[in-house]
Amino acid sequence: MEHIKNDIVVSGMRPTGRLHLGNYFGALRNFVELQNKYKCYFFVADLHALTTAAENTENLASNSKQMVIDWLAAGLDPEKCSIFVQSHVPEISELTTLLGMITPLGWLLRNPTYKEQLNELFRKKYAGQEDKIAAEKMAMLTEAELSEMSSFGFLGYPVLMATDILIHKAAYVPVGQDQTAHMEIARDIARRFNDIYDTDALIEPKPLFTSVPKVPGLDGRKMSKSYGNTIELGEEPQAVRKKVMSMFTDPNKQKANDPANPDGCTVFAFHKIYNPDFEKRAEECRAGALGCVACKKHLFELMEKEITEFNQRRNFYAKDEALLEKILKRGAEAARESASKTLAEVKKVMKVL
Ligand code: TRP
Repeated sequence: MEHIKNDIVVSGMRPTGRLHLGNYFGALRNFVELQNKYKCYFFVADLHALTTAAENTENLASNSKQMVIDWLAAGLDPEKCSIFVQSHVPEISELTTLLGMITPLGWLLRNPTYKEQLNELFRKKYAGQEDKIAAEKMAMLTEAELSEMSSFGFLGYPVLMATDILIHKAAYVPVGQDQTAHMEIARDIARRFNDIYDTDALIEPKPLFTSVPKVPGLDGRKMSKSYGNTIELGEEPQAVRKKVMSMFTDPNKQKANDPANPDGCTVFAFHKIYNPDFEKRAEECRAGALGCVACKKHLFELMEKEITEFNQRRNFYAKDEALLEKILKRGAEAARESASKTLAEVKKVMKVL
């Protein structure tokens, strides 16, 4: 595998279920670009999934596989990058233990994502109830109650994530802005390790915040599984068509030829992605030259070919279990080769025989 740059890129996604267009345009499409430029390791963070769902793992293995199938269908190429499942690389768990020894507890307790995620866990537990009730209850919980809901593994989420990255000596990590705090901890752990043992064995990785298009959900809020407003990868074209026809538009537009505002319109946000002439569409919308139904039909036409081709590739990989296993086996081998080198170095400087 020859790459333009020698720098290493690492990124992972938790297998939370089928990916949607928000995941595709927000992250996956970027992975596909990066594999041509850097030496890339992309992995399914199944251990990270366990940090919040260890009691409920019946879908874990299938979610992991389905996600890899989405990746392959989207164009991740096992000839260009290493694709693997985190738990297939036991060196990660071993290095997590070692790096945990030099990670101050305060860093983890102060991590803003920790409390936010606890809050979310709590909401899930009280799903169906008003958000407000959950938030109020949350605010009343004592530290002790909070720590009952959490686990050692959950608090250690950032150490595991730091390890995923440091174990390959990654220079760059493509992530969303929501991962900033975790990335900071990964850098801090690398620096602290190097300071304590007077070494340069670990590399401080930089987050790679690529600009990505805004992908609203059908109702105009952020596209998210928990809002039930997604278009999933692999959906049948006719199902997508129905969803497109149900998208929210400018509420002030009553009749087909009323002038309207494309900014804030979900359909227009998608035109920006799929329609090279989206600027013309914005003018037409402002002038009232086109009704929303026609605009939606046009959007679906633009999406249809891509969807059909994606689904064909997806079906190809979904049918070939043996191929998928082969790809993951190769990916894990490549990842283990790189991981075991760093692990050996770390053990050496820590004087672990
Ligand atoms: N925390 C990341 C997320 O929720 C997933 C993740 C785990 C990750 N390990 C990683 C991302 C290492 C980048 C690098 O999206």
